[in-house]
Amino acid sequence: MKRGQFISVEGIEGVGKSSNIEVLVKHLEDAEIEVLTTREPGGTPVAEDIRKLLKDRGDEPIPEIAELLMMFAARSLNVCNVILPALEAGKWVICDRFSDSSRAYQSGGRGLPMQTIDSLAGWVHGDVNPDLVILLDTPVDIGMARISSRGAPDRIESEKHEFFERVRECYLDLAIREPERFVVIDANRSLHEVQDDVGLLIQQLISDNLP
Ligand code: TMP
Repeated sequence: MKRGQFISVEGIEGVGKSSNIEVLVKHLEDAEIEVLTTREPGGTPVAEDIRKLLKDRGDEPIPEIAELLMMFAARSLNVCNVILPALEAGKWVICDRFSDSSRAYQSGGRGLPMQTIDSLAGWVHGDVNPDLVILLDTPVDIGMARISSRGAPDRIESEKHEFFERVRECYLDLAIREPERFVVIDANRSLHEVQDDVGLLIQQLISDNLP
């Protein structure tokens, strides 16, 4: 059976990943393609526990290396128990964040070496890589303003403005370096306009993969 397509959706806080994932799912369902959605960190019961540990603002500081390894521990669970079985069953998988989040946040944001993240990615998920990365891009102020109504910020959301500037810059660099994998969508527009672009993109991928 032909592996399904693997799509990840990336971007800083407040870019509108969730509503655009809904658009992707709707287009795939309309095309009668079986689709599974998951998220990172998370996606399995144990990985969701790790997500909670990563997001909670507990008393114990989490060193950058521990944060990176926890992201990849959760990813290993999600890849082995959810993503790979679905792809091998021919389903399309949409993942809310994947290893490019580790590149952008733990390397771009925290300053860990990109090579370490690339090695971990190779070790943890080998050839299971997104066929398409949809990078929703918006200025940091706009994203942060959008999440300010969501309640108390979690541990990562509490980082300084400069941290998210570095994350955004790293995402844009990755997209420039790997144009065959990344599509950047300007998310600093009305939801309607952004969703129209996301719809066109997924329709193109669907027609490229017609049996
Ligand atoms: P979110 O999916 O609700 O945006 O929350 C996930 C948070 O975790 C977000 O702040 C980005 C961060 N994150 C990393 O720092 N590295 C990673 O590898 C992943 C998947 C997420």
